[in-house]
Amino acid sequence: MFLTLRIIHIIAGVFWAGAMFFMVSFLMPAFKDVGPDGAKLSAALANRRLFVWMPVMALITIVAGFGLYGMRMAGGGWAATMEARILGIGAVAATIAFIVGVTVTRPAMMKADALSKALGTMPAGGARDAAQATVNALRKRSMMGSRGIATLLLITLATMAIARYA
Ligand code: HEM
Repeated sequence: MFLTLRIIHIIAGVFWAGAMFFMVSFLMPAFKDVGPDGAKLSAALANRRLFVWMPVMALITIVAGFGLYGMRMAGGGWAATMEARILGIGAVAATIAFIVGVTVTRPAMMKADALSKALGTMPAGGARDAAQATVNALRKRSMMGSRGIATLLLITLATMAIARYA
């Protein structure tokens, strides 16, 4: 049971953190480069359920992680060790990253996606410019949120990597 949970935890964690690092380092800057041409790709990503898979993988990582933590604690006395404390720091960072993802980044990305789809059908003019400005602001917000998440996940990964040697 412990090993199964460990495999699930690590696979889901790699998916979540890897996807976040890819988004922040390559995907979001590429969207910025191509401007309005990115609308098609962002719609395709939404159709492939990016906004479902990311939070689901994040949740699986966190639930499995806390399950592992609980099993280790059941041994008694473990919670006071340096390993438990370091893993705890990583757990807190990942939990905050998840909360930022579902409350800031995900809604901003979904709104920007819906609005940029609507932009395609709007006539040129003030209303369209205003909508484009809103899309830009939402994308900036989601970029900042994603950077914060990637930084928190970097902290989590570092703690998961060193904890057992502490
Ligand atoms: C993106 C987030 C995360 C990633 C990528 C990740 C990755 C990893 C990896 C690679 C290990 C193996 C470390 C080793 O063998 O020395 C590990 C272990 C562990 N992780 Fe995470 N983790 C994440 C989040 C969490 C969270 C939120 C918790 C919640 C408590 C957690 C709890 C644990 C525990 C208790 C272990 C030790 C398991 C054992 O004793 O074998 N992790 N994690």
